[in-house]
Amino acid sequence: MAPQRARRSNLAVPGSSPKMLEKAKGLPADQVFMDIEDAVAPIAKPDARKNIVAALNEGGYEGKTRVVRVNDWTTQWTYADVVEVVEGAGANLDCIMLPKVQTADQVVALDLLLTQIEKSNGLEVGRIGIEAQIENALGLINVDAIAQASPRVETIIFGPADFMASINMKSLVVGEQPPGYDTGDAYHYILMRILMAARAYDKQAIDGPYLAIKDIEGYNRVAGRSAALGFDGKWVLHPDQIAAANEVFSPKQDDYDHAELILDAYDYYTSAEGGAKGAVMLGDEMIDEASRKMALVVASKGRAAGMSRTQTFQKPEA
Ligand code: GLV
Ligand code: MG
Repeated sequence: MAPQRARRSNLAVPGSSPKMLEKAKGLPADQVFMDIEDAVAPIAKPDARKNIVAALNEGGYEGKTRVVRVNDWTTQWTYADVVEVVEGAGANLDCIMLPKVQTADQVVALDLLLTQIEKSNGLEVGRIGIEAQIENALGLINVDAIAQASPRVETIIFGPADFMASINMKSLVVGEQPPGYDTGDAYHYILMRILMAARAYDKQAIDGPYLAIKDIEGYNRVAGRSAALGFDGKWVLHPDQIAAANEVFSPKQDDYDHAELILDAYDYYTSAEGGAKGAVMLGDEMIDEASRKMALVVASKGRAAGMSRTQTFQKPEA
């Protein structure tokens, strides 16, 4: 199974900016992804590769998931992005993000290339993961195969800006409703489709950018939707969005405490000492095996976010 890293906030940093690569070190984002794709002009891409290799090797991103977004396979840049970055800084890199993935073959191609570079550079084979961005109709209808295309795949990411362009969706603000139409939630199907593939194959589901960077209320609304569905995190394009993402994708303290309590209580009551019961009352709540599973989801997110519990389970008096 691919590692499940902390990815509540995924900070986009253009590889063309050494200043922003440096600044990212001190920001409290769970993941930093250094871009060579759409945030970097074509003529700036060769320098962006060099800046990224230098920044990764210099270090300072401790505690963060370190990712580089390369260009997609329909361009002329992908192979050189991967070769230069992984040969130059493969030991200091956690994942490659592949944008605009349309077929499972595209993931397999990246997997094969990574394996060759790892072998010829004395790197651990298979350690570098893949983050697959779903950004068009073909990618979405192939998302199940894409999720299974390589054991390296760690996340499935929704790319709303490219996706909207790809399906001709009208909207003024990415992530919000198209204007003038009652479409229900225009993104619901896309988000759920990605989430099903992620959950079926034990991948993390990540929501993409919210471009109106000054509108934190809008960010919270859109992030709140994907968090409520079950997504694990969202992109942040600006330092101001980081705290919002970290909060929206962490459980509330009460919910975290309650989840840990259910796990302990259920563990006790199902044991011989606790009476080997499968359905018991915890306060006013009936808990059973399904409650344990739901509690485990919340507890795992809280633990990954570094939360500590403020209540302990007390065994009933004998
Ligand atoms: C991100 O890459 C997007 O297209 O939304
Ligand atoms: Mg995109």
